Amino acid sequence: MQTLCLSERDNASIEQAARIIRAAGLVAFPTETVYGLGGNALDAAAVMKIFTAKERPVWDPLIVHLVSREMLEPLIANPPAQFDKLFAAFMPGPLTVVLLKSALIPDVVTAGRKSVAVRFPLHPVAQRLIAATGLPLAAPSANRFQRVSPTTAEHVLDDLDGRIDAILDGGSCPIGVESTVLDLTGDVPFILRKGAITLEQLQQALGEVVLADPDGVSYRHGGLPSPGMMSRHYAPRTKLLLVEGREKALAEKAQQVSKQKLGALLPSGWNISAATIFDWGQWRDWAKLASRLYAGLRCLDEQSLDVIIAPLPPEEGLGGAIRERLLKASGLEMDHSALFDC
Ligand code: TXA
Ligand code: MG
Repeated sequence: MQTLCLSERDNASIEQAARIIRAAGLVAFPTETVYGLGGNALDAAAVMKIFTAKERPVWDPLIVHLVSREMLEPLIANPPAQFDKLFAAFMPGPLTVVLLKSALIPDVVTAGRKSVAVRFPLHPVAQRLIAATGLPLAAPSANRFQRVSPTTAEHVLDDLDGRIDAILDGGSCPIGVESTVLDLTGDVPFILRKGAITLEQLQQALGEVVLADPDGVSYRHGGLPSPGMMSRHYAPRTKLLLVEGREKALAEKAQQVSKQKLGALLPSGWNISAATIFDWGQWRDWAKLASRLYAGLRCLDEQSLDVIIAPLPPEEGLGGAIRERLLKASGLEMDHSALFDC
């Protein structure tokens, strides 16, 4: 199939994209976090196409994207009181919540779970597209399974050209890492994935909120809470080596591996010796670094390097979300010797 490239600037393009989705096709579209691959969430056959295009295993459930409270009501069982507080404080925005679903949501969307993840994107193109279809859109990140999420239309085409009906090009995604995922189905809300809405913000709105166990396994029901928590997610093909974020430690590590062809995701102004450097942005400017993280990993991954080296941000606001993504991208190949000396 040929993938149509549509510009979001054109109202006719939004209409055309909406027609494709209503006819059970797939359209990639920008959100404030990353590009999503959208299909009609109420049509099991359309949703199956998403799994096929991405080569995503069917046990990994999808997020349903909406534009209004009215759209949500028929899709879920009674939402807990916490949902109203979150809706008022953070929606639309980069927060996904997991709620008990109604029978309207096909099992393929939730991988057979009783819960469904829902999100109200803030990006105007995403909002216009959902409104034009009048449908809830199931949309995972628009990358091949286990690859780095796309933050530009080019990234989407690199992974999915010829596999989807169309892409709405809306430029770069401003946040650059996926939404925070918060599960509201238990006694205490817990974060399954870190993102731009932080633990502190959620605690301020709700009181007690906890982080799911970072290894993603020893969760209180003993199972895997969210398949996306598996390690080796968001991964470049090249080996990724992480060093706790300090210039000196990173430079020393670069020296140690200097026999290999080395690339670095390097904060501006830091000095290390590497064959290829991606100028990442000012260290501690987490918003900037998050927005350039996946572009940097994709860019370095194309340079036929042996190793990519990167500093790990501390658990500090959006730094924590970048840290989580880098750890997953590395398959947790952390240089522990450098971990505790900063
Ligand atoms: O920012 C985002 O969330 C982007 C944009 C496109 O909205 N979407 C995104 O979707 O990152 P995806 O499919 O790549 O990640 C969805 C995550 C996965 O980790 C999945 O396992 C989890 O949400 N998830 C979905 N439904 C769930 C459910 N019912 N219970 C627990 N986890 C769920
Ligand atoms: Mg994804």
